[in-house]
Amino acid sequence: MLCFICPLCREPLIENSHGLACSRRHQFDRAREGYFHLLPVHHKNSRQPGDAKLQLQARRQFLNANFFSPLVGALKHHLPASTQHLLDIGCGEGYFTRHLASALDASAQVYGIDIAKDGVRLAAKGRREFYAVASSYALPIADHSMDVITRIYAPSKDSELARLLKKDGRLIIVTPGPNHLLRLRQQLYQDIRPHPEPQAPEGFILQETQQLRFELITPAGSLTEALLQMTPFAWRLTESLAEMAATGWQDQAEFRISLYRRV
Ligand SMILES: C[S@@+](CC[C@H](N)C(=O)[O-])C[C@H]1O[C@@H](n2cnc3c(N)ncnc32)[C@H](O)[C@@H]1O
Ligand SMILES: [Zn+2]
Repeated sequence: MLCFICPLCREPLIENSHGLACSRRHQFDRAREGYFHLLPVHHKNSRQPGDAKLQLQARRQFLNANFFSPLVGALKHHLPASTQHLLDIGCGEGYFTRHLASALDASAQVYGIDIAKDGVRLAAKGRREFYAVASSYALPIADHSMDVITRIYAPSKDSELARLLKKDGRLIIVTPGPNHLLRLRQQLYQDIRPHPEPQAPEGFILQETQQLRFELITPAGSLTEALLQMTPFAWRLTESLAEMAATGWQDQAEFRISLYRRV
């Protein structure tokens, strides 16, 4: 039994040979790559919501080169061994989702949800996790069904987090640390403000935080270009991007991992 619910009537969705269906016969076909499209048209605010294709591809290329493997290691360490249901909100092209899944029992169900179809399509191909196109503001997932929710650099709604997590479940939020890509930001802005401290979502209390910092050295060429391309300030770099990519880049990565439990 899967934890997906119908985005139209909220009834459980049951798997069939074509995809998923609820008791009111709302049917959602399985895409060729294996994901489900569970975003009702009226929840789509733009024609191509979520990250742009170029940014997605840059993210996939950079992440697959494992520059952020210390973050993967730290996240795996925070997964309770008994985790049977995990949801990754804003999973993008699925790098963290699939690495987290690899740390769990084969019987565990891992869900990845993102509003950007291009990302979900890349994530789902050939994988055993369950992926869906949906909004993190109205998630098509059953109440209190998740042992762990991860949210890595993505938005969501507090009430949805509280609705989905089991009573003793764990919420893991990753945000940039104050010194994340400091050298790059120093180059771009006269006055750099540290990333703000994350606030506990309503209905949650902070259990633990971990600040993780490591050196990031990318070689000249496409990997440096991918790093620069996937940052939110890529658009400011248009002229210097090629120059920086030609020499490579040295900076620091810093993440804040916040672990919360329900009040
Ligand atoms: C910076 S990316 C991070 C992706 C992934 N967690 C990772 O670290 O590789 C942010 C992601 O949030 C997604 N996103 C933005 N708004 C969303 C929403 N309302 N619902 C679901 N996903 C959303 C974007 O499409 C994008 O894939
Ligand atoms: Zn339905």
